[in-house]
Parts: sequence; structure tokens; C-alpha cells
Amino acid sequence: MKIIEPRAWHEMIEGVLTGDNVKHYKKYLEEVKNIYKDSDGTDLSTLVYEVYSYSEGEEKKAGNLFWGLTVMYPVYLNGECNMTRGHFHEDTDCAEFYFGLEGEGLLLLMNKAGDMWAEKISKGSLHHIDGEIAHRIVNIGDDVLKVGACWPTTSGHDYKSIENKQFPYRIFKNNDEIEFFKI
Ligand SMILES: [Fe+2]
Repeated sequence: MKIIEPRAWHEMIEGVLTGDNVKHYKKYLEEVKNIYKDSDGTDLSTLVYEVYSYSEGEEKKAGNLFWGLTVMYPVYLNGECNMTRGHFHEDTDCAEFYFGLEGEGLLLLMNKAGDMWAEKISKGSLHHIDGEIAHRIVNIGDDVLKVGACWPTTSGHDYKSIENKQFPYRIFKNNDEIEFFKI
């Protein structure tokens, strides 16, 4: 028997995912400006969020898992809070866990009928997302928001349904108060 080094690390605090099989991308405002009500006045080259994901084995094999991390910067676009695009899972049998690592955020959730609600994200919070529920992360704090995740590699991402049927509320911060605006 031999003892080997782990193949990846998740430095839970003040860290990111590292390892040979870790994928990473950066999202700049230019690519996501259309999800905001009004991004005028903010440099389109602003880094809004980064995503890391890690898995082993064949991604198409049912039962395999991704481990992930989303890093969201405290960017406000004319008061509107920075958010991810949001998605349903293509395979609605696939649930997902999110967990708060740093910062302060909201997990926006929406069912197929368009009913929306939110859970508070903070350091240590754990969130189970049913496979049929759309999900989006919003940074409502003054610092970086880090949210970890674990989900089946076969989940897929359905962004189209969100483009066709938006989350019904936008999240703004005004004088340190969070405000919801119906679209
Ligand atoms: Fe997901």
C-alpha cells in the first residue's frame, strides 16, 4: 500500500482551487453586460467573476461530480449588484450543493413557473438546490464573495431558459440597503 498526495486542494479561506485537472475562467463585464439593467458608466473590461471547477474521470459518466468555486467581485452597476448569469440544469434530476466561504451574498432561486425566492449566503452557509430549480449568485457585500459548489458532471447548464424567462426581480443596493425591483 502507498500513500499519495491529494490531486487537488480547496483552500477554504482566502484561497482558490488548484490542481492539474482544475479548469478556470474569468468573466468580464463585456460578456455579461446584457444581464444588467444599466451597465453604462462601468468599464467593460471590469472583471466581474471567476469560476473554478475540478473533476476526475469521464464527465459524461453518470455519478461523477464537479467540485467548484465561484469568486464574485464587489461590483455595482448603477446600484445593481454583481451576479452570475444563472442557469437551470439540463438534466433536472441533478441537484447541487452551494456553500458560502467568504463574503455576503444571495442565492436567487426560481422554479419553472417563474416563482422566485432567495437564501442568504455567508461564511459557512450550506444550500441544497433541487435539480428543477434555477440558481444565480449575487454579491451584496463590500468584499469578494466566494461560493463553493458540488454537482453531477452530467447536470449540464441551461442558460437559454433564463434568457427567455428572466428571474423576476433585480437586486440593488442603495445606502447599504438591499432593494428588490420587479422586472
Ligand atoms: Fe448549477
